[in-house]
Amino acid sequence: MMQIRVARVADAEAIWQLHNRSVLSLCAADYSLEQLADWVKHSTLARQQARLKKHCVFVAEEDDRLIGFVRWNPATNELCSLFVDPDFVRRGVASALMETACQDALACGVTKFWLDASLTAVPFYKATGWQTIKQMMHGELACVRMTKQLG
Ligand SMILES: CC(C)(COP(=O)(O)OP(=O)(O)OC[C@H]1O[C@@H](n2cnc3c(N)ncnc32)[C@H](O)[C@@H]1OP(=O)(O)O)[C@@H](O)C(=O)NCCC(=O)NCCS
Repeated sequence: MMQIRVARVADAEAIWQLHNRSVLSLCAADYSLEQLADWVKHSTLARQQARLKKHCVFVAEEDDRLIGFVRWNPATNELCSLFVDPDFVRRGVASALMETACQDALACGVTKFWLDASLTAVPFYKATGWQTIKQMMHGELACVRMTKQLG
């Protein structure tokens, strides 16, 4: 059964590996191999460790295996990262992680989240109540700025 808990700094390596596997597998339909390689290159273990100290991060586990994570930044109210293991998609893992992040943010007095969605994730965000603001570029990567009212 899936369980969601607050992430620990010791989760950094598993989060980093899941992030890269998820990008390379799930985003391959929307970005070139060069873009994906660049994306993964910028996601280092040291960065994941630093973010675990600064941001609010939750992990989803099943049988002690990390199957997804979500991270939001309390300084900017950005939902920065939401990734699911490619072997566990379409089972409600991202929905449950997002709900956890939304409840956590609400408890901190946040009323609105924003994010820059990968093209791959836009159908998921549209299906879960996010509104499109505008098309954006993150370096070489096309993405979509979206917002969600909390509560
Ligand atoms: C986007 C992502 C987080 C969704 O994770 P997930 O656990 O599969 O999502 P859920 O199972 O909670 O999906 C909830 C609903 O969103 C919609 N949805 C999810 N993935 C979808 C897809 N690939 N295409 C169309 N709709 C999708 C569906 O309506 C789905 O409900 P359904 O399965 O009953 O039809 C996951 O595919 C992922 O990690 N993608 C790659 C990484 C990425 O781009 N992350 C976001 C960075 S901004």
